Amino acid sequence: MNLSFEVSPGEWSSPPGGSERHPRSDAGRRSFLRRGAAAFSAASAAFAGREAHATNPNFLPSLYPNENVLEFQTIQADEQAHVKFLVNALGADARPMPTFQNLQMNNLQQFVQNSMVFENTGVGAYLGAAAYIDNVPYLVAAAGIMDIEARHAGYLNVLNNRKMTQNVLGQSPSFEVALTMQQVVDLVSPYVVSLNGGPPLTFSTIPSAENDIAILNFALALEYLEMTFYNINVPKFTG
Ligand SMILES: [Fe+2]
Ligand SMILES: [Fe+2]
Repeated sequence: MNLSFEVSPGEWSSPPGGSERHPRSDAGRRSFLRRGAAAFSAASAAFAGREAHATNPNFLPSLYPNENVLEFQTIQADEQAHVKFLVNALGADARPMPTFQNLQMNNLQQFVQNSMVFENTGVGAYLGAAAYIDNVPYLVAAAGIMDIEARHAGYLNVLNNRKMTQNVLGQSPSFEVALTMQQVVDLVSPYVVSLNGGPPLTFSTIPSAENDIAILNFALALEYLEMTFYNINVPKFTG
């Protein structure tokens, strides 16, 4: 099993706000924010708030050009990387990609709200499974993915005008709440048409080498779901 992460050389070389940070800021490209502004009362409130604080030169600005396009493209690339990593780690044991439904988002608000739910589901799911992972390198790998899911979730919470720590259960804990396997299954089942012969969405609560495979395949199903969701919708809302 290969648990190495792929890190692109120079990934951290671009300074925030540098030219490489907004590669799709060409003139003429419609901004995600411009198109979405009408749908977001939260965005309107942010601008209204800035106007109300016009006399304060240090008032915290809320938004940056193309920032949201960049973040969604980053999330999409991360989900693709998570799938690739788990498929590679599982090798011949990797499940096939399930067939999904109901992932086509009709408007921007629906897109960002469902993104928030998927990401927060992922955070709770990884934490819920972590207690049963037997092999420490697998546990560390899962924790590395979970941390990225938490970054995604925090960003999307804020984009949806929620506390950054709000979880999929609507709580804002200082210590993340693990989801049970059944809670995760209930959250993702509306999107799954067929597992295409892959293992069921379950794992044991008794740690073992065999159960680690089941947990990683459980995670892979979630990653396939997220990846497919973003592959369908990110081009639609950022192109
Ligand atoms: Fe992921
Ligand atoms: Fe994610």
